[in-house]
Amino acid sequence: MNTQTNDAVVRVEELTRTYATGGQSVTALAAVNATFWRGTFTAVMGPSGSGKSTLLQAAAGLDRPTSGHVWIGDEELSQLSETKLTKLRRTRIGFIFQAFNLIGALTVEENILLPLRLSGIRPDRAWIAEVIDRVGLGDRLGHRPAALSGGQQQRVAIARALATRPEVIFCDEPTGALDTQTAADVLTLLRSVVDDQGQTVVMVTHDPVAASYADRVVVLADGRIRQDMAQPGAERIAEQLAALGRRSHVAQGA
Ligand SMILES: Nc1ncnc2c1ncn2[C@@H]1O[C@H](COP(=O)(O)OP(=O)(O)O)[C@@H](O)[C@H]1O
Ligand SMILES: [Mg+2]
Repeated sequence: MNTQTNDAVVRVEELTRTYATGGQSVTALAAVNATFWRGTFTAVMGPSGSGKSTLLQAAAGLDRPTSGHVWIGDEELSQLSETKLTKLRRTRIGFIFQAFNLIGALTVEENILLPLRLSGIRPDRAWIAEVIDRVGLGDRLGHRPAALSGGQQQRVAIARALATRPEVIFCDEPTGALDTQTAADVLTLLRSVVDDQGQTVVMVTHDPVAASYADRVVVLADGRIRQDMAQPGAERIAEQLAALGRRSHVAQGA
């Protein structure tokens, strides 16, 4: 981890999210505390339903938590109006989804520039050229997403997330729909964005190999952080996940 530039980019405090479904209340996040530092790459892991997506959505201001706080830099999200929150999300946060979520009617270039257009910001042409070069899409700019492979589409989504130079990029299973080699390319790209640009990346994954690209692995279970490991390596990650699985089976009496 880079300790020279260890300022907090994202901080969540006592973050709780409950969902009411059919008279029952499900606690997706139970008073989670976490800080994500500038220039670091964190993997968020844990069993299905452990609250990983809920944590990312709340931290990215896509979902309002039931209680607790989220800071992006000095801004506390619950204090912001919907309009200000939307602006902050578009300019200071990037989000990458498993399903790419590109706009099919727009070209690659238009997709990449969309967050800037939506927030009325004039594109920094030199930066956009650098981003396009970095993701290796220079010869695909006029194509529609449907004409690209999955890996290329995810690289468009990464370029789109980088276009505004956000402080943090959240990724929810960004390699979940990709084959092993393409996933490795995308992970190498995310890694280089952290190492070369000092970006902050927070990535949900269930793949220990994907998580081993990160500096830190946070493991959730039942809406709580159960493990927080520095550069654990794929083997130790897999061991910890297996141990967690055994414990929760015991807890459930299975
Ligand atoms: N929109 C929703 N309505 C009701 N329950 C939800 C909703 N979204 C998530 N949950 C529940 O919250 C818990 C955590 O979900 P999620 O954050 O999606 O987990 P993960 O991403 O780790 O698989 C699960 O029990 C899930 O069923
Ligand atoms: Mg999820």
